[in-house]
Amino acid sequence: MAIMAADTDRIQQQKAVRGNFTRKADAKQGVSPLYSATSSRSLTGDEEYIEIIGGKRLEGHVTISGAKNAAVAVIPGALLCEGICTINNLPMIRDVAVLDELMTMLGAVVTCDAENSSMTFDTRGVDCSIVVNELVQSMRASYYFMGAMLGRFGCCDVALPGGCNLGPRPIDQHIKGFQAMGAEIYIDDGVLRARTANGLHGADIYFDVSTVGGTINMMLAAVRAEGTTTLVNANKDPQVVDTANFLNTCGAQVRGAGTDIIKIRGVKRMHGCEYTIIPDPIEAGTFMIAAAGTRGDVYVENVIPAHLEAVSAKLIEMGAKVTEGDDWIRVQAEGELRAAHVKTLPHPGFLTDLQPPISVVLSTAKGTSVVSETIFEARYAYAAELMKMGANIVLEDRIAVIQGVEKLRGATLYATDLRAGAALMVSGLMAEGRTVIKNLEYIDRGYEHFEDKIRALGGDVERKG
Ligand code: EPZ
Repeated sequence: MAIMAADTDRIQQQKAVRGNFTRKADAKQGVSPLYSATSSRSLTGDEEYIEIIGGKRLEGHVTISGAKNAAVAVIPGALLCEGICTINNLPMIRDVAVLDELMTMLGAVVTCDAENSSMTFDTRGVDCSIVVNELVQSMRASYYFMGAMLGRFGCCDVALPGGCNLGPRPIDQHIKGFQAMGAEIYIDDGVLRARTANGLHGADIYFDVSTVGGTINMMLAAVRAEGTTTLVNANKDPQVVDTANFLNTCGAQVRGAGTDIIKIRGVKRMHGCEYTIIPDPIEAGTFMIAAAGTRGDVYVENVIPAHLEAVSAKLIEMGAKVTEGDDWIRVQAEGELRAAHVKTLPHPGFLTDLQPPISVVLSTAKGTSVVSETIFEARYAYAAELMKMGANIVLEDRIAVIQGVEKLRGATLYATDLRAGAALMVSGLMAEGRTVIKNLEYIDRGYEHFEDKIRALGGDVERKG
């Protein structure tokens, strides 16, 4: 593809910005806990691992942190407001630390109050729309810089996103939407370069698939565009709604988030705000499933029960007892659980991110379960690890047929992606004997104080190495 004029200048400019980064990062206050808490390499250079002695019931109360996938959209969204945004209930995880670095690199002044899960982003001084470095490739959500930069500057150079390997993860729907809003897009050596003559304009955009990232990226791009944008077949995930609420708090006009038609009337300017991220439905679902898997009794607190209806329904179908209040869900299980069929779907269907942990629990449920993964084709990488523990799983394309076995036995396991890592933690808690989990960098990307929370519920878990 053609490289646009002035690109060389822009790369030079980016190098200058990288120089700036060191200075601004040094000037930040209170950031270090975020970075040090999430390293999966020990000081001796040996790889850290988690050791679990399985077979203990999880019992007690666990408080859920802020939603990773909402946080990773809202933080780049702050670039659209030329002001100061204070974001509360942020999970202190590696993906947030990476975004902190990227925002700083762009010229934002970032402060972090890790103890109170809060960060501020002063984006008034941001004057760069280039996000090209290895950090971008370490996470999927860096694609939100495309929408945010296009919305603010009418142009951007953003390295194509990385993230967990779940099979092909195209961004054609994002590109199609940016083009409909008037951007010329070039992909050059792994960098998406977008240009507009005079900024973006509103457009009618129809999504061929229900896409979380595509829907959020179009909202980010459209909030400051000239005119009205209509998104048809929009994704309805809670993180889409949370991002829309954040943007509206900053003065945007987004209507209909949470339905399949979203209308965005472009505004000239957006201001800073204080905003609190929703609780993480995936972390909450993981603890609900772990409670059932260990035949435990856990109050999962600081949640929005409506976000978790598919999980609650499935656990009840399997024989667990689920009760809920305004902001908590209690899961109790004992004895045998029943097999069930699970099909992953966009919200409000059963989340693909919770397919690995529910499959772990189904591996010891009585009978044959059929799990059908409709979102990401490579989401069964954990199954080979589970089979090391004695699980009986037959895979055929996107279908897993799971014949429940009496028990899992401890083994040495390798996390293959973030949600697979969490699922393997659940398997270790359920198994008889000692389980060792490696490749912790995946788990650290998305779960705050995971082992501490499990330990507080009575799980025998320790990070070593
Ligand atoms: C988001 O990924 C989440 N990531 C994922 O969580 C989550 O599993 C996924 O949504 C589905 O809920 C973040 O929020 C950062 P999609 P995303 O666009 O946006 C296809 C985690 O561990 N598609 O909703 O990449 C795509 O291939 C992660 O937290 C296109 O074909 O997912 C998939 O089959 C893993 N073209 C389906 O749509 C496109 O342009 C849904 O993908 C975009 C997507």
